[in-house]
Amino acid sequence: MGAQQVRDGFVGLYGAEPEGVWAAPGRVNLIGEHTDYNDGFVMPFALPHVTVAAVSRRTDGLLRLHSADIGGGTAAPVELRVDELAPESDRDWTAYPAGVVWALREAGHAVTGADVHLASTVPAGAGLSSSAALEVVVALALNDLFELGLRGWQLARLCQRAENVYVGAPTGIMDQTASACCAEGHALFLDTRDLAQKQIPFDLAAEGMRLLVVDTRVKHAHSDGEYGKRRAGCEKGAALLGVDALRDVPYAELDAALGRLGDEEEVRRLVRHVVTEDERVERVVSLLESGDTRAIGPVLTEGHLSLRDDFRISCPELDLVVDTANASGALGARMTGGGFGGSAIVLAEETDVPAITKAVEEAFATAGFTTPRVFEAVPSAGARRLT
Ligand code: GLA
Repeated sequence: MGAQQVRDGFVGLYGAEPEGVWAAPGRVNLIGEHTDYNDGFVMPFALPHVTVAAVSRRTDGLLRLHSADIGGGTAAPVELRVDELAPESDRDWTAYPAGVVWALREAGHAVTGADVHLASTVPAGAGLSSSAALEVVVALALNDLFELGLRGWQLARLCQRAENVYVGAPTGIMDQTASACCAEGHALFLDTRDLAQKQIPFDLAAEGMRLLVVDTRVKHAHSDGEYGKRRAGCEKGAALLGVDALRDVPYAELDAALGRLGDEEEVRRLVRHVVTEDERVERVVSLLESGDTRAIGPVLTEGHLSLRDDFRISCPELDLVVDTANASGALGARMTGGGFGGSAIVLAEETDVPAITKAVEEAFATAGFTTPRVFEAVPSAGARRLT
C-alpha cells in the first residue's frame, strides 16, 4: 500500500488533494514486557507494516475520518465536531484518531479540524500496536500541518493520553514511543520513566539470523479487565514496598523485597516478573552492544517463562509457539506485547527458519488451533511524512 493509493482514496472521498501523506509503523517488542507502566525499560523495534494517513486541515471545527479497512471500515467519512469530542464517547476505531485530536486540543494546541483518510497494513488485535500506529500517524500529520513543533516523544505522550483517557485503555507509553521514534535497522532501548532513548543497531540478517513474528490469531483487547488488573497489582506492589514504581526495586534487592511482601502471593509474582524483566532488558542491551547477538535467545525464552508463570498472561497458543520453536532449533522465543493472545517472536538462524515455521504450523494443526500467520520482522523506520 503506497502513499499514492491513499492520496487517491482521499481525493475520491473529499474531492481535493490532501496537504500531505504520513506513515506510522506497528512494532514488536524484543524484550521488556509490562515494564512500561512500572517506569521500567523496554526494547521495541518498528515493523515494516504501517498505517498511512492522507490529511488536510480544516478551519471550521469539523473532523472527518475515513478508512475502508481499519476496524472493518466505514462507507462514508464519520463526521465529528472537534469542540464536542468527549472521553469514552466512542467505542469504534474512530476513537483513536478522534482521541488524538482531543488530546492535542486539551494540551492547548489549536487544531481546528481536519479531513483524514487512513489505510493500514498493521494486523489488528495481533499485539503489534495497530492502535498506536493509528494514533501516531494522525498526531504526526496534525503536528506538521498545524506547525505545533512537538517532538516524537511528546507526540507519544499525547497519544498515550488519547488511549488512556479518550479510548479508556490503561496502556503504557511503549507502543506510541516505538511507533513515533524507532529507527530503521535498530531496536529502541527506552527508559519509560524519562523517555530517554538509545538506538541499538539490530541487523540480524547481517549475522545470518532472522526474527520471526508468529501471529496466533487469538484476539486480545486491552480495554478489557486483565491488563488493568495486572497494572493495579503492580501499583499495589510498589505501594507495599514504599517505592514510586517497581522500577525502583533494584534487582539485587529482589529477594528482600519479595520477603517483605509476606503472603501477598499474587503481588509477589507480579513484582518478580517486573524486576527480573527490567534486568533482562539491560542484559539484552549489553549482549547486543558487545556483539553477542545469539546469546539474547535464552534471555527471550526466560522472559516468556516469567510472563507465563509469574505474570500469567500467556495462552496455550503462545506457549505452543515458544515450545515448538525452541524444540526445533530456535535460539529463543517469547510472547510479545500485552498478552492473552496476539503474537510471539522467534529468534533463529536463517537456515533453521523453514523447519521452525513448518513445525509451528504442524503443531497448531495437531492442536486444532487456527493456522498462525508467520512473517519475518525487519527493524524498520518510525513515523514519517511520505509526501
Ligand atoms: C501493550 C501496551 C504497552 C505495554 C505492553 C506490555 O502493548 O500498550 O503499553 O504495556 O502491552 O509490555
